[in-house]
Amino acid sequence: MASVKGAEVAKHNTKDSCWIVLDSKVYDVTSFLSRHPGGAAILLKQGGTDATNEFKKYHPLTYVNDLPPNSLLGPIDPHTFGQLRQPKPEKPTPAAEANAEKEVPHVSLCIATTDFETAAKAVLPHKSYVYASTSANYGLSHKGNLEDWNRITFRPRVMRDVGKVDMRRSILGYSSKYPFYISPMGTMGALHPGAEPEMVRGGVRKGCHLVISTASTKQNEAIMESYVAEQHRLNDASPSKLFFQFYMPADRNRAIDLLHRVKRAGYKALWITVDTPVLGKRTADRVLQAEEALAVGVEEEPTAAWEAGHENPLVPSIGGRVVGGFLSPHTTWEDLAWIKKEWKGPIVLKGIQCAEDAKLALEYGCAGILLSNHGGRQLHSAPSALMTLLEIRTYCPEIIGKLEIYVDGGLRDGTDVLKALCLGATAVGVGRPFLYALAAYGSKGVERCVDILADELQIGMGLLGITSLDQVRPEMVNASRLLNRMWRPEVSGPKSRL
Ligand SMILES: Cc1cc2nc3c(=O)[nH]c(=O)nc-3n(C[C@H](O)[C@H](O)[C@H](O)COP(=O)(O)O)c2cc1C
Repeated sequence: MASVKGAEVAKHNTKDSCWIVLDSKVYDVTSFLSRHPGGAAILLKQGGTDATNEFKKYHPLTYVNDLPPNSLLGPIDPHTFGQLRQPKPEKPTPAAEANAEKEVPHVSLCIATTDFETAAKAVLPHKSYVYASTSANYGLSHKGNLEDWNRITFRPRVMRDVGKVDMRRSILGYSSKYPFYISPMGTMGALHPGAEPEMVRGGVRKGCHLVISTASTKQNEAIMESYVAEQHRLNDASPSKLFFQFYMPADRNRAIDLLHRVKRAGYKALWITVDTPVLGKRTADRVLQAEEALAVGVEEEPTAAWEAGHENPLVPSIGGRVVGGFLSPHTTWEDLAWIKKEWKGPIVLKGIQCAEDAKLALEYGCAGILLSNHGGRQLHSAPSALMTLLEIRTYCPEIIGKLEIYVDGGLRDGTDVLKALCLGATAVGVGRPFLYALAAYGSKGVERCVDILADELQIGMGLLGITSLDQVRPEMVNASRLLNRMWRPEVSGPKSRL
């Protein structure tokens, strides 16, 4: 293939013809503009430039293989990089300008997990903060997640000798120093240049398990390498393990290939996200996309219209970023059979939101379920994990103990973790606090976030009157305020399959 001169590339920076350089190769991305779920503006801004560094912030470079095959125009003439267009420096938004004045507090001044959000806001570009904090529609699901933990109180016992407290738990057979793990979150490169490996280093140093996202900035093999290197540095002393969160690619062969790669890399279990057959409406992300589009002179059409003619209008996007062909809307319970065959290991379903599906997961032989509404980023007015846990206790308590039950969403304090365990959760996932901690302080922040949760949990256990997590019981909490709001089949209509 003949090389392309930088001066030629530089000319193609419009809606009608948009070329970019990635890893020293020139691509014509014009036909892809209308399909970029993050909006055409992201690509247009990079038109005629070397977009490699910007691209790597969000995706593995291998994603370029998802572009139509004829979009590769050839290598760039290496002597002509200087002729490329230079991207315009971003005009800081008023929010970013206000943040630039702020200083990041010393990490030891982070006393509660919520302090990391304030710190992250001070360091992050507005766009990255929006990506982490956004939730679906006008935010009800996320708000419910946060509020429901506050609606439960403890029923502590006193005078019980709590001099020594042990908070170990086992997660899918892997001993864990804590009954919590770091939730899978995509595109960490948007939050910290070290991306997922930096998060992993913090988790491993503290002996905390992590679930790694399919939509990670780095490839799963590279993330595993960072895990192995950190373990090696610690003489393999950390009990921390990596699990893999699986978004079902639309293409079956691609799905199988990914499963095999993940297995070979050494991930210990598969967490299949089932609450995302299509991407939720991430309102703040959409506002930003519209602003970016207007800034480059494009009026964005609503997302569904861009994709008209595609089988499912909202499929290929996560967090507003391209994930080429991920998120199949067609997945059903029957798919578990071939996934199990290919994976040959424990499977957890992430995103169970009612008692019926919890029962089904057991029937289909899953090792665990994660009660979750995706941090309030998917369905508007979804139940909090806590409400789903109470629903399971009410309508199918027999499944508790037969499979592992995880919960996530809105847990911000070690005592929230304790409440979940009292009600039968095996362990809990914590998301945004770790992401904000990473953004503001890198792996040191991640370590600090583990310490804060562990400290609160340990104090909470002592004050509740228990010394080990084997002693947690439902009668140690008062959930009556939530139980009053419990779904009742006789009110909702005909009896369901429960
Ligand atoms: C920025 C961000 C990215 C996320 N990316 C993914 C993802 O790639 N896959 C997934 O299954 N869940 C993803 N989640 C959901 C989390 O795994 C988890 O369910 C949620 O964050 C828990 O709620 P919390 O943030 O309130 O703790 C993401 C959440 C956030 C905040």
